[in-house]
Amino acid sequence: MPREVREVVFVDGVRTPFGKAGGMYAETRADDLVIRCIRELMRRNPQLPPEMVDEVAIAATTQTGDQGLTIGRTAALLSGLPKTVPGYAIDRMCAGAMTAVTNVAGGIAMGAYDVAIAGGVEHMGHHPMGEGVDPNPRILAEKLVDPSALVMGSTAENLHDRLPGITKERTDRYGLNSQLKTAKAYADGKLQPDMVPVALRSAEQGWGLATTDEAPRETSMEKLATLKTPFRPHGRVTAGNAAGLNDGATAALLASEETARELGLPIAMRMVSYGFVGVEPEIMGYGPIPSTEKALKKAGLTIDDIGLFELNEAFAIQVLAFLDHYGIADDDPRVNPWGGAIAIGHPLASSGVRLMTQLARHFAEHPEVRYGLTAMCIGIGMGGTVIWENPNWDGAAK
Ligand SMILES: CC(C)(COP(=O)(O)OP(=O)(O)OC[C@H]1O[C@@H](n2cnc3c(N)ncnc32)[C@H](O)[C@@H]1OP(=O)(O)O)[C@@H](O)C(=O)NCCC(=O)NCCS
Repeated sequence: MPREVREVVFVDGVRTPFGKAGGMYAETRADDLVIRCIRELMRRNPQLPPEMVDEVAIAATTQTGDQGLTIGRTAALLSGLPKTVPGYAIDRMCAGAMTAVTNVAGGIAMGAYDVAIAGGVEHMGHHPMGEGVDPNPRILAEKLVDPSALVMGSTAENLHDRLPGITKERTDRYGLNSQLKTAKAYADGKLQPDMVPVALRSAEQGWGLATTDEAPRETSMEKLATLKTPFRPHGRVTAGNAAGLNDGATAALLASEETARELGLPIAMRMVSYGFVGVEPEIMGYGPIPSTEKALKKAGLTIDDIGLFELNEAFAIQVLAFLDHYGIADDDPRVNPWGGAIAIGHPLASSGVRLMTQLARHFAEHPEVRYGLTAMCIGIGMGGTVIWENPNWDGAAK
């Protein structure tokens, strides 16, 4: 049966404020965080009849306890979506939500769905990284990966070894700038519109309301230089140039462009292409470079066509590896204009949609930009990139 691929659009995205692991969400369930996001998406888009949601794909890296039980389905039910709306759980570590988006996009493009919700959650306080994993001994015995590949901070140290031109001074400065950009974005009210407040309950502190991220902090180059290097004695990776351990959730609404227009839903971004690629697991932070090459090639674009970048800042070294590869300056204003995961936090499987939600806001502010990209590195040595087109593009030169 001949059929046409349909255009996929990003309608809207939201996230909870991101907490520090063991912080404000210590007594909040992980699934409640993502349910809050789904409900907010439906509240913000009343033109969408709930029964028209064809799929709910929710990512979590650890799929047990309050992140278990096929979280996409249970979150859909608990969000008040009709019981007829299906859902599933998905895992690609840090790129969980990004993969949820590309998966449902595939379904939309081929006509299986008209509208879908994709998102992710990670409560790293309830589910510390690596909790309960039982790696097959063969993966190390057969030297498929180096043991350091299983500790993300060690992979960042390994990347430093390979790229000696990227000094600790540079990664610290990148970390400082991320904090400064996020502080400015908060002061300018840029981040708040897509954040859904979360009711908090604490046995000790009573009731509260989370309205801002918990991780951002004031810092300085002098202070950053004094921080410990937990992954290697005399190493370069510190709490100041790495994303922290966080709790949070995201969700996005995707649709076929045709359906969005019929329902009068906003069209914030149009998906152009995406690519996922594997690299040596011990330098997983290198992943976004080949995944970007792949996504650019599929789109018939070059890096010069990209006017805005939302790069996940798992580690400053890994972002700087990407920027150096493409000859982009460390402080290029097109890159993470409102800061990134080093300041805001990185609740693993949720972060992909945070990048997209921010890019969508940048697109609205920058009609002179036609294309933007979201990219992230992924545990066990992968990279993921999604290229988006700005529907507000005014046709002018970038
Ligand atoms: C780097 C890491 C080990 C730090 O964990 P931590 O020690 O619990 O972090 P903390 O927030 O307690 O920070 C450690 C210290 O640095 C200080 N610090 C952290 N960030 C700082 C900053 N930007 N400026 C100044 N001081 C800072 C803290 O105050 C703390 O000081 P203290 O020891 O005097 O209390 C942890 O965040 C980590 O593993 N990050 C990577 C997560 C990851 O791998 N994600 C997946 C990516 S693929």
